[in-house]
Amino acid sequence: MLDLKHDLRLGKTRDEQARMNFVAGLRSHVLNDMANGMRAVYDAEVEPAFRRKAGRAPQDGPQVHQAIRPNEYFKFYSSLRVTAQDMVWQSVFPPLERQRADLKQKAKSLATRRKSGSLKLDANLPVPRSVSALDVHLMPGNYDGEYEKDDLAAGSLYDNGLAVFSFGLMGQNLDDIGQSISRFVKARYPGFKPQDVLDLGCTIGHNTGSWKDTYPAARVRGVDVAAPCLRYAHARAQAQDRAVDFEQMNATELKYPDASFDVVFSSMFLHEVPRKDITRVLAEAYRVLRPGGLMLHMELPPNAQLSPYDAFYLDWDSSYNNEPYYKPFRDLVPQQLCEQAGFSSANYVQFVVPSIAWFGEQAIANAVRAPGSVDSDKTGRLSDGLQWYCFGAWK
Ligand SMILES: C[S@@+](CC[C@H](N)C(=O)[O-])C[C@H]1O[C@@H](n2cnc3c(N)ncnc32)[C@H](O)[C@@H]1O
Repeated sequence: MLDLKHDLRLGKTRDEQARMNFVAGLRSHVLNDMANGMRAVYDAEVEPAFRRKAGRAPQDGPQVHQAIRPNEYFKFYSSLRVTAQDMVWQSVFPPLERQRADLKQKAKSLATRRKSGSLKLDANLPVPRSVSALDVHLMPGNYDGEYEKDDLAAGSLYDNGLAVFSFGLMGQNLDDIGQSISRFVKARYPGFKPQDVLDLGCTIGHNTGSWKDTYPAARVRGVDVAAPCLRYAHARAQAQDRAVDFEQMNATELKYPDASFDVVFSSMFLHEVPRKDITRVLAEAYRVLRPGGLMLHMELPPNAQLSPYDAFYLDWDSSYNNEPYYKPFRDLVPQQLCEQAGFSSANYVQFVVPSIAWFGEQAIANAVRAPGSVDSDKTGRLSDGLQWYCFGAWK
């Protein structure tokens, strides 16, 4: 398992580290080896049985789900994956509980030593129920759980939990999405020089900071509704000497004037947003973009562009991982969403970008010449050969 490199990382005893390594290994086993095993069982048994009965193959993800649900391999895969997910968070709690006070102290001393970046919280901002009433992906307390003054434990839980969850696939700083996509944009559009970049639903800012690395002259801002994550994001950026400004704001109602940004980005955000709010988020993105600016959302690929099996496989989280908005989002058509928000159909873009952490830096230049494909079973899947899907539009 990867260990975080920044100053806010939790110290661990040997047993705690061993437990985290075990959970990361278990997840890798489930998501690589068992996922391949489940696919083989589907091809050899489940799909032929469906075909014998229905006279045709399953036509969409829900039909594959219904067909595979009684299967023992699927049940074992799913129960192990749910257990491993729960173990991810449980593996972080003992070191986090022990170091809660230290963490706050470190954040305080970073704030006095390093003046880069800023943090603006809004204690009166209502947190949407889609965040406050749910422990998304089984994360206890969710992003906004606050139990004492200036609490930033939820941010630490997410940071350390993501390191275990992603078993090394998200890079040294868990910022592979931001690094891969921002560098792809720079290589694909060398004349584009954004001055203001906004990251929506930035959580702990791990992918926000990449935009500052790629475009050092730009002012980079991240917004989120969850105060404990933003406190942590600010301290994490300071620990890494990255000047990023974080603000507590609802992405459906941005407090910025029209035409304030050249890039409006998000990653892994829209699939946690209810349908009615997705429309509002994209309309806000359109409003705050300058003419000639780029909106770009990294997401799981849309169901309409996947095979029935891959649609089922990626939608697993909606049924078993407390992700109620995940499948409804993936059933939408991204280009239609962009057009409804005001973007012209001629300005729509979608890319599949190779993971730098997995394929290395050179892969970005190669992808500019020959982009990856959405329907590959590696797109959006946390497994060997990972690549990231994103869609958006130029204003
Ligand atoms: C899955 S996380 C995003 C992760 C992060 N962007 C990344 O790259 O890994 C979703 C984030 O969106 C935030 N969020 C949910 N609804 C929001 C809204 N309406 N406005 C702003 N942030 C929101 C949550 O608090 C959470 O931090």
